[in-house]
Amino acid sequence: MHTPSPVIANTASIQQAVALLRQGRLVAFPTETVYGLGADARNPDAIRRIFAAKGRPADHPLIVHIPSPENLADWAATIPDSARQLARQFWPGPLALILSKRPDVPLEVTGGQQTIALRVPNHPVALQLLQAFGGGIAAPSANRFCRISPTQAAHVAEELGDTVELILDGGACTVGVESTIVDLTGVRPRLLRPGQITREELEAVLNTELVLPETLKHSKTELRAPGMMAVHYAPLTPALRCRPEQLPDIIQELTAAHKKIGLLTYQTAIAEKQITQEMRLPNQADAYAQGLYTALRKLDQLHLDIIVVEQPPDSEAWRAVNDRLNKATLAY
Ligand code: TXA
Ligand code: MG
Repeated sequence: MHTPSPVIANTASIQQAVALLRQGRLVAFPTETVYGLGADARNPDAIRRIFAAKGRPADHPLIVHIPSPENLADWAATIPDSARQLARQFWPGPLALILSKRPDVPLEVTGGQQTIALRVPNHPVALQLLQAFGGGIAAPSANRFCRISPTQAAHVAEELGDTVELILDGGACTVGVESTIVDLTGVRPRLLRPGQITREELEAVLNTELVLPETLKHSKTELRAPGMMAVHYAPLTPALRCRPEQLPDIIQELTAAHKKIGLLTYQTAIAEKQITQEMRLPNQADAYAQGLYTALRKLDQLHLDIIVVEQPPDSEAWRAVNDRLNKATLAY
């Protein structure tokens, strides 16, 4: 089989995708966050194909995408008020909720756990696909395990080659980083992965404080969520992050050592002429997030010696971006 070229998503290609999903095949599709690698969430053989295509260990649970909040009851054993409140406020949208799973949900999709991640994505193609399929679509990000998530259809082809049957092209993802994940199965709601929907927005709806990832560092939860592992979303080129004021020194040092440098900034202008490739992202967290993975992917393809990333402020607005950068780069 050859690597499929992305196909423009329309009624005909979405019908083709539905037929493939019904046969237990894999279909990549756009969401507002990143592209997903989809399979029928009720079909264990199809789920196993996802893990094989990604090279992902089988005990790492997947997110099941559903067409509407009304479908929560098809997957979750109990639906707490907190889940209903968050769904009402943020779905369709970049938020995944962890709930206790119904006994009939295959353990393959939950990585052997009794809990399940659910999300209604906010992308017209994803929603049309879900409605036409009429069931749940399990979909991790459509990249090889521990690599950079795809935010354009062409990235999926680069990542997965012929392991995916069809790639629906719905343009570039508008959010650009993976969904916020909130675990609602414990006594207190817990933020497992930061995303565009912020802690403050969630706390305002829940009317309570979230338990944050930093307080979970050494708990078992860390092992359950590969997105929380130290190395993840990583380019193959060595990548370093530093504070803005450290940039001139680092660049001087690397230039003196004749290194081919890729630079990813958001505020500092560098006058240095020898920089091989400089990319500048917007000085605003959501816009930065939207461009981040495409920028890292481009720099990673230039065969540079090192990628240097100017570290954004350590503030709540930048939490999701910093979380991804901390996993993609080493601190200077
Ligand atoms: O934005 C997104 O969420 C994208 C798009 C395609 O929807 N999907 C995505 O999936 O990022 P993936 O598989 O790359 O990341 C899913 C994360 C993993 O970190 C996984 O461990 C966590 O969700 N997760 C899934 N089920 C879980 C569960 N039952 N308990 C704890 N974490 C869970
Ligand atoms: Mg992923």
